[in-house]
Amino acid sequence: MKFFSRHDAELCVESVPLSRIAEEFGTPCYVYSHAALTAAYQSFDSAFSQREHLICYAVKANSSLAILNLFARLGAGFDIVSGGELARVLAAGGDAKKVVFSGVGKTADEMRQALEAGILCFNVESESELERLNKIAGEMGKRAPVSLRVNPDVDPKTHPYISTGLKGNKFGIAYTDAVRLYCKARDLPHLDVAGIDCHIGSQITEVTPFADALDKILLLIDALKNENIEIHHLDLGGGLGICYSDETPPPVTDYADTLLEKLADRNFKILLEPGRALVGNAGLLLTKVEYLKHGDTKNFALVDAAMNDLMRPALYDAYHAILPVMENTGVAQRYEIVGPVCESGDFLGHDRHLHLAEGDLLAVMSAGAYGMSMSSNYNTRPRVAEIIVQKNNTHLIREREKISQLFALERLLP
Ligand code: LLP
Repeated sequence: MKFFSRHDAELCVESVPLSRIAEEFGTPCYVYSHAALTAAYQSFDSAFSQREHLICYAVKANSSLAILNLFARLGAGFDIVSGGELARVLAAGGDAKKVVFSGVGKTADEMRQALEAGILCFNVESESELERLNKIAGEMGKRAPVSLRVNPDVDPKTHPYISTGLKGNKFGIAYTDAVRLYCKARDLPHLDVAGIDCHIGSQITEVTPFADALDKILLLIDALKNENIEIHHLDLGGGLGICYSDETPPPVTDYADTLLEKLADRNFKILLEPGRALVGNAGLLLTKVEYLKHGDTKNFALVDAAMNDLMRPALYDAYHAILPVMENTGVAQRYEIVGPVCESGDFLGHDRHLHLAEGDLLAVMSAGAYGMSMSSNYNTRPRVAEIIVQKNNTHLIREREKISQLFALERLLP
């Protein structure tokens, strides 16, 4: 099934034309396809079906309660990086026993919150964190299940801001330190060694870096066996890329088959933490052209969405396809697609070949991951509405913020 397709020249999400969404909910807004979200989850899940596994959706990619709830109903677990994300997962009906907690800076309060909830595993990223977790679990009369997030020092060949498994990154425990720290974890009285974890980066479009990371982790698992340390699960993180323009990420089946082949004679459970691959291509940002401005050297289309709504272009120079909602045959010109925020970095796309008129609707594609979840109120702009389309129905899953809400927590000086 095509989740985003044209009917009578108009771009639709499932069976709903985007002009209907703009009319009903206004612009800008994020629009997601229920079927696309479901299909992405199910293809991941079924690719690993031949062995015991748990898909822990990386909440940071899109933390909407409705999306978390949808994945929870499909059986997903969750990868969280804050107490806030844990609260969201629980509010959305997620099961704490399927939650893994990643992140380099877990606070004592967050550890208590997660121990109280009874999560599946803490992915520990430093020796100090190991000691703190042991202490807090002891104070609470509990034992904390842990994996060490090991840094396999593999180059994921992606944008430097989103590579995480290299020696110079702040993430994970150095490969050469892992055995020593596992022995320490085994000997600390309030910890239980549950698994091993690695995550090498994001938007990875080849299988090789994942395979290389897995090889190194398997060697480590063998070294741990010599110390009588058995692990019960192997968490391979997230990172599988999607197509934004002409990238050719491996299909999830190839990714899974490569990993599963290496795991054939091992019997532990597999955990994965995909984020982008489950939501990225299931959503778009719908925006309207406010003004066209024809400068000396460039044409600008000023749209009502901006870098605060979708930060990826400004932050990573990321490319998102931008499609006219109504296909037209007028003569196209080259446009800079820019927002109203007072920064030259406020662009959604450079040099796009489009025929535009003021009032036209545009769809910024592949915006389901790290779009809404990275949005801000910069320039005191309310965060936009979010809608899930399911066949011919629309569900408002987040109202557009009201301006009064933006400063409701603020106080004047006495
Ligand atoms: N697990 C851990 C520990 C992570 O740090 C991440 C992402 C994931 C899983 C999910 O990775 P994914 O499957 O989505 O690649 N804001 C950036 C992406 C940052 C990714 C951070 N960590 C972007 O917009 O491209």
